[in-house]
Amino acid sequence: MIKINESFLKLKDNYLFSTINQKTKEYKNKNPEKKIINLGIGDVTLPIPSIITKAMSKACEEMSDAETFRGYGPEQGYEFLREKIQQEDYGKRNINIDKTEIFVSDGAKCDTANISELFDISNKVAITDPVYPVYLDSNIIAGRSKKYIKELERFDGITYLSCISENNFIPELPKEKCDMIYLCYPNNPTGTVLTNEQLKVWVDYARENRAIILFDSAYEKYITQKDIPHSIYEIEGAKEVAIEFRSFSKTAGFTGIRCAYTVVPKQLVGYTNKGNEISINSLWRRRSSCKFNGVSYITQRGAEAVYTKEAQQLIEENIKYYLSNTNELKINLEKLGYKVYGGINSPYVWIKTPKQQSSWEFFDYLLEKANIVGTPGSGFGPSGEGYFRLTGFGKKEDTIEAIERIKKL
Ligand code: MLT
Repeated sequence: MIKINESFLKLKDNYLFSTINQKTKEYKNKNPEKKIINLGIGDVTLPIPSIITKAMSKACEEMSDAETFRGYGPEQGYEFLREKIQQEDYGKRNINIDKTEIFVSDGAKCDTANISELFDISNKVAITDPVYPVYLDSNIIAGRSKKYIKELERFDGITYLSCISENNFIPELPKEKCDMIYLCYPNNPTGTVLTNEQLKVWVDYARENRAIILFDSAYEKYITQKDIPHSIYEIEGAKEVAIEFRSFSKTAGFTGIRCAYTVVPKQLVGYTNKGNEISINSLWRRRSSCKFNGVSYITQRGAEAVYTKEAQQLIEENIKYYLSNTNELKINLEKLGYKVYGGINSPYVWIKTPKQQSSWEFFDYLLEKANIVGTPGSGFGPSGEGYFRLTGFGKKEDTIEAIERIKKL
């Protein structure tokens, strides 16, 4: 008899964004005449700069020529791309990352989920609350929680680090000892950031406790303020304790193309039961070579072109465009009396729901009365209850229209 992994049964029935899609679809079917504005999932709307797509077309052509055809590529990514990442994303910030520490992949979502495989099931996991659901779900699937406690709306065995307006969305160090700590900054969903000093507290904690920080910096390009770290490796000692995840999705518009990378420093070690040190870099390399055949050559040539001067300029403009949307949302919603957080160093604004409405009540209210789709804060965790996320990734005219609709409510 084939037995299933029962941990799957502990998960909520649907992934958050699938539930939202389902609800939106149902509403659309019932009201086909309504024009819905989707500011829910953080998906980009601006096209990819053509210098990047041209590089992909050229790579595609190479595939039909016997001289330039390529089969399997290196699992870790082509050297031409890892070199660019090393120089442009780290070297220019005076961060010394070796090419062998960079692993090109098909998405930060997959990597942040897959990384948990490297670590023993007994490790204690800490997540910020609210949180990008992938970190939690992947650890539930791995079996790191015995059960979901309905009354607490929390999984047993997982440490939730509450991030709410009362603590300025800054997570406090856990009271119990944690081994795997997921941090995402600029934060999804709250759009808030940590300063160097605030992030250093976590690096120091991890060093003292021989823990690991899984640092998702997918939104790093959205940082506009000066004293905010772009990489966790800007913090002294972080290379001993942190893995960093980056993505081309929210910067170069690769949500559909799929390309990202993960940095696993050579200094980073985990321990066997006997206390022997093992390189995490070698474990991740072993895992990648076993389970992954690398990102397509065509995609990686596109990602390489992201670093051209022309593409960089256009990407910067696109990011400014999205940030001007969040700025419009922030200014106008604040004028209407909403409490709005984030949006300055992030494509997300995090709103306190009005009149004590629950996150899902506000979701239904906005969908039905204004035909706007957002993301209910409680979908990201219990501390997200009473909050609501809107994204700046929509088209400018849709964002303005959404604001006008909310004004009329
Ligand atoms: C989000 O809306 O939180 C993100 O788009 C989800 C993702 O990047 O997978």
